[in-house]
Amino acid sequence: MAAMGDPEENVSTHSYMVDGKHFVDENQVKLIERVKLVKPILDHLLQKKMLGSEMYETIAVKETSYEQMRCLLHNVIFPGSNEVKDEFCSILEEKESNLMRELRGDSAQSGETPGARKPDRVMTEDQNKVKINMKKTLDICEGHAKLSKQGKKTPVNRFYTELYLTKGGNEGVNKEHEVREIETASRTQNTQDTPINCNDIFKPLPGQEKPRTVLTKGAAGIGKTVSVHKFSLDWAEGKANQDLDFIFLLSFRELNIIKDDQYSLRGLIDYFHPEMKGENVDFEKHKVLFIFDGLDESRLPLDFESKKWSGVTESTSVDMLLVNLIKGNLLPSALLWITSRPAAASWIPRDWIDQVTEVRGFKDPQKEEYFRKRITDQNLAGRMISHVKSSRSLYIMCHIPIFCWIAASVLETMLGKADSEDLPTTLTHMYTCFILTLTTFFSQKYATNRGRKETQALSEADRKLILKLGNWLFNNWRLEISYSMKMI
Ligand SMILES: Nc1ncnc2c1ncn2[C@@H]1O[C@H](COP(=O)(O)OP(=O)(O)OP(=O)(O)O)[C@@H](O)[C@H]1O
Ligand SMILES: [Mg+2]
Repeated sequence: MAAMGDPEENVSTHSYMVDGKHFVDENQVKLIERVKLVKPILDHLLQKKMLGSEMYETIAVKETSYEQMRCLLHNVIFPGSNEVKDEFCSILEEKESNLMRELRGDSAQSGETPGARKPDRVMTEDQNKVKINMKKTLDICEGHAKLSKQGKKTPVNRFYTELYLTKGGNEGVNKEHEVREIETASRTQNTQDTPINCNDIFKPLPGQEKPRTVLTKGAAGIGKTVSVHKFSLDWAEGKANQDLDFIFLLSFRELNIIKDDQYSLRGLIDYFHPEMKGENVDFEKHKVLFIFDGLDESRLPLDFESKKWSGVTESTSVDMLLVNLIKGNLLPSALLWITSRPAAASWIPRDWIDQVTEVRGFKDPQKEEYFRKRITDQNLAGRMISHVKSSRSLYIMCHIPIFCWIAASVLETMLGKADSEDLPTTLTHMYTCFILTLTTFFSQKYATNRGRKETQALSEADRKLILKLGNWLFNNWRLEISYSMKMI
């Protein structure tokens, strides 16, 4: 059998087979996510008579490359012969050579063909350690991991759906309450904002200087944490922002735990990234990005009047370190990315923020894409989408990713049942069903041996999840009530 990583052998007909599996079957998720130009592939397959003109049209009209690739793979490539799969690979070799090289490298890393991966640039061991650790810790996402069946973890890249992010905005930091923000965000998606890609958050607008400090605001559950995770993961996987030498991802929630302790900046990095311990890295000579997620959860005094502090290795309070990092006294060459709910965004004076961006949630095509990615049974996903679209309020709320997650969790259970119940068409009904879903989930998860009535105590992580979701539901219930009052 031919080895996957050997480019010479990939030319022959069966060179894409490894251990009885074809390369396309092995790499389907990555191919769907990463191939962006599908049309030339369709043209090629049409010309080779491996694709009919009707199917060509069906695929070509799909809105996103993700949907096109999924449709192509599921309807043409997977059901096709090895000859079709090989032809598909050979066109990818031509059109997506980097991706193909990378995917073959991935297989090599997983032990299939040692030594096939050829990194584009030489990385230091220290950078590698941070990247490897990031891949391990970030490859899951809270909402999905905690409530998925059998507690299965979902890799971020498998469910990540593109978010609508905007740059600038004349008001800078919004002091409005976040509930009102949700209302306005859904109404004002098409105004004069400049949309940006999450990975381009530090790219300057034409005529502007590259920002050092970016603040990204957004309502609860809109996808701020998922965005910083995706950004970090793309960096760790070598897909984007490779000019950065290190990314250190910290959350305010975790900073709160050590807020009364004394740390040096170096000590703080070691605390959050233990893989860096003992490494002799001069951060002033490297391009470093610090991400601080969830400013709204901060319990630090954030005293911007405090004295100047610039020592990287001397200890002081965590607040002093943070404030001086933001002001650029400490590690002036470092980049900073802070995320916050709108109500807390003004806790950092505007003078120290170079660029404000905003996560606005999903646009309409992404709402649908979310369900299609989240639910493997495409028939079920289609029914969910139709149901959500049938109710104006549900469809509007789906611009908030966590709402999509709630709706998918509820509808997956309800649509899967043989006896049909009334599906929720209002927000209140949806939230009520969600609470029932949560109750059932947790009572099953914490039920002890059969016959014993008592249940185990909730874990700390689940307690936090329930509180967070409860808080979100409460706020949105208030939002719905305010909508209803306006209608009266
Ligand atoms: N881009 C995305 N693609 C798919 N699902 C997403 C995306 N963004 C968010 N989600 C879903 O929404 C949930 C909440 O997202 P996230 O934790 O990023 O919100 P947040 O803006 O950080 O909220 P908070 O202000 O409460 O911290 C995630 O657990 C995930 O289920
Ligand atoms: Mg968050």
